[in-house]
Amino acid sequence: MIVRLIFPLITWFSIPASTADPLMERMPAVFERAAVQYRGMLEEISGQPGQPRTLGNDGKVRMVRPEDWVSGFFPGCLWLMHEYEAAEEWKNHALAWTRRLEGIRHFSGHHDGGFMLGCSYGNALRLAPSDEFRGVLRDAAAALASRYVPKLGMIRSWDHKPFICPVIIDNMMNLELLSWAARNGGDANLREIAVSHADMTHARHFRADGTAYHIVDYDPETASVRAIYAGQGADVLTPWARGQAWGIYGFTMMFRESGKKEYLARAVSLAEAVMNHPNLPEDKVPCWDLGVTAGEGVPRDASAAAIMASALTELGRLAPDGGKFLEFARGQLLSLASPAYLAEPASNGHFVLRHSTGHLPGDSEIDVPLVYADYYFLEALLRYRAQVTGKPRTEFGQAR
Ligand code: GLY
Repeated sequence: MIVRLIFPLITWFSIPASTADPLMERMPAVFERAAVQYRGMLEEISGQPGQPRTLGNDGKVRMVRPEDWVSGFFPGCLWLMHEYEAAEEWKNHALAWTRRLEGIRHFSGHHDGGFMLGCSYGNALRLAPSDEFRGVLRDAAAALASRYVPKLGMIRSWDHKPFICPVIIDNMMNLELLSWAARNGGDANLREIAVSHADMTHARHFRADGTAYHIVDYDPETASVRAIYAGQGADVLTPWARGQAWGIYGFTMMFRESGKKEYLARAVSLAEAVMNHPNLPEDKVPCWDLGVTAGEGVPRDASAAAIMASALTELGRLAPDGGKFLEFARGQLLSLASPAYLAEPASNGHFVLRHSTGHLPGDSEIDVPLVYADYYFLEALLRYRAQVTGKPRTEFGQAR
């Protein structure tokens, strides 16, 4: 009887889950570190045109034009800083850096409008809704949809040689912009375009072991596959780490947007293939390609871990047995938040995360900071916080 009386008291006075969680405990220090880094970044780059991408060999932040696929991530990071604790400091910077991209609202030179304007204007809409942002996003969605190839049923990713009609796994990420626009005053066929692209990717872009190819090149008249390329990966037969992360994120997001069960199944099987991969290091931060074994001098890709953690946190919320995905994401985020990956103050070109790899076969951006690693790291932390505190977070596709 005594035991039965005491037990509820012990439960009542036990530490709430949110404060006992090591990641929740670490989060204020991580956002404080990000604040120090971005104040330094803003000081270094103020007055320069473009948007920050990485740290150059000269020790300076490398800026890129608005048409570069990464241009939306720094404004997005500033919005995520504002989301963390609603500070006006970050909102003002976020607005200013977002509006630098207004000139690309009709850009259709490649498929990455979803990254460029979704991560900047899409976050602006989520956190400070306005018709100004809705208008830009509708234009960006129409520009992206102009790349749709009807006979193929997919959006063409790039226009350059040696490809004819290339479609890359990364392209899944850009569908959120179309899905948002279809519900918010854009052409109704934008939804069909997004679903058709996802259906075709689901059918054609995966190996028998559940992992994704990077580049599939099509004949745009017959919809037949011309060739498959390793792209930024080591080999056609091996999984490029960041490509797997784009796939998990993209199919999870399209399940949220469409409710189609095939997309959930695809996200789950791809997530499991990566989580159980024998080459995944113990700290859960992959090497640049899962076909290579971790070891001295083999570059990791923190960006792949950050994107994957953000995706798994959402998959953890949406999948029926999602606890294992959330748990895995927590492990990845604890690794990224540790001194092994988190930059020391005023180092690393003012970026937050170290040790990402952009394009190893192209000998480009190897073991460097990358702005999109920071973006998905901060997003993953905010998604995680929403999940464990039970305070829902509106994702871009669901914003009004
Ligand atoms: N979307 C290009 C990349 O992941 O490198």
